[in-house]
Amino acid sequence: MAATDLERFSQNAELESRNLPLGGHVGFDSLPDQLVSKSVTQGFSFNILCVGETGIGKSTLMNTLFNTTFETEEASHHEECVRLRPQTYSLQESNVQLKLTVVDAVGFGDQINKDERPIVDYIDAQFENYLQEELKIRRSLFDYHDTRIHVCLYFITPTGHSLKSLDLVTMKKLDSKVNIIPIIAKADTISKSELHKFKIKIMGELVSNGVQIYQFPTDDEAVAEINAVMNAHLPFAVVGSTEEVKVGNKLVRARQYPWGVVQVENENHCDFVKLREMLIRVNMEDLREQTHSRHYELYRRCKLEEMGFQDSEGDSQPFSLQETYEAKRKEFLSELQRKEEEMRQMFVNKVKETELELKEKERELHEKFEHLKRVHQEEKRRVEEKRQELEEETSAFTRRKAAVEALQSQAFHATSQQPLRKDKDKKKS
Ligand code: GTP
Ligand code: MG
Repeated sequence: MAATDLERFSQNAELESRNLPLGGHVGFDSLPDQLVSKSVTQGFSFNILCVGETGIGKSTLMNTLFNTTFETEEASHHEECVRLRPQTYSLQESNVQLKLTVVDAVGFGDQINKDERPIVDYIDAQFENYLQEELKIRRSLFDYHDTRIHVCLYFITPTGHSLKSLDLVTMKKLDSKVNIIPIIAKADTISKSELHKFKIKIMGELVSNGVQIYQFPTDDEAVAEINAVMNAHLPFAVVGSTEEVKVGNKLVRARQYPWGVVQVENENHCDFVKLREMLIRVNMEDLREQTHSRHYELYRRCKLEEMGFQDSEGDSQPFSLQETYEAKRKEFLSELQRKEEEMRQMFVNKVKETELELKEKERELHEKFEHLKRVHQEEKRRVEEKRQELEEETSAFTRRKAAVEALQSQAFHATSQQPLRKDKDKKKS
């Protein structure tokens, strides 16, 4: 047998497993218990994102769901943009520790310029943090505080009409990143028949717009039936209240109105119990699992592909991190060189352009100077001519003045000698 055949034979022998009967009790049937005990010691984290307009009842529902009072301040209607506010609480039920994070999308839907981008960015940032931890040389995923969003409760305003376009756009942007459970908030403000039609309309709109909402899983036999029934009840119409009202001889959480009492945990009044069952008791682990295996996996794949990593296919060489890194480095350096060359060329062009512009300006200035010089000479010549004219006029005037003065003095002499002669003539006679 050739060396390569031998290798293939030994590989096949390793892959094939044989069933063996056990002679007695060994103890590995306790593996599930070991897992449970490890998980219980480690504790669980569950992160809920609440998206809905200001005052829709997000905080009240969270308080009602977990039967506690989380510290919450009312959101302002004057936020400049959508802000994500995470708050983490440690809860304990029996011996199970739950680190619950409630993230509020503050300011969402208040004004038209408030879009879903900050929400998408927040979800991505949590995936990125997890990926960074995974890629660390010394990683500690065991006690890492996982902040990835496991479920997004999308609060729909109980208008009875259709979904707002903002709701559709936002859910469409989020559906590949998070498990969305749509809920109709303040369901006590809408009549039963209207609610039924509203639910059908919402589901129709979600389907026709290709929005993928979270479907309760039906592959696990133990919960398949209940989950299938609950999928048909989506979106859940909920009522929240932390107020306790006496009904019969029992204190129940309810909203009291002049015409009656809406009991939060009465399934004839609203779907609150269905939501709590599905979200917390039946599908919490599936939501966590889906977040990791579907949404995070998609983020991770896209991110690693973006960084140049590829899986080897079929018979090709196994994936080499070193080679990928080198290839990416080379690609980066050549891109850097290309950019540098581009910038240098741009700079040279700019200098040439500026030089041409300066030359043009110089030429224009020179022309202007020559023109001004010509105008100046012309003006000088005209002034000189004027001066000569004036000088000639002045000398003509002087001559005329001298002639007039001479004539005047002659005339004066003539007139002053005539009376003397007359006196002499009188004396003689
Ligand atoms: P911000 O955090 O300020 O955005 O508000 P929010 O969405 O957290 O709403 P919050 O829970 O503070 O409730 C706002 C108002 O709605 C309060 O007056 C609640 O009593 C009332 N509210 C809450 N849930 C319901 C409900 O199911 N039905 C009715 N009718 N009112 C509700
Ligand atoms: Mg609130």
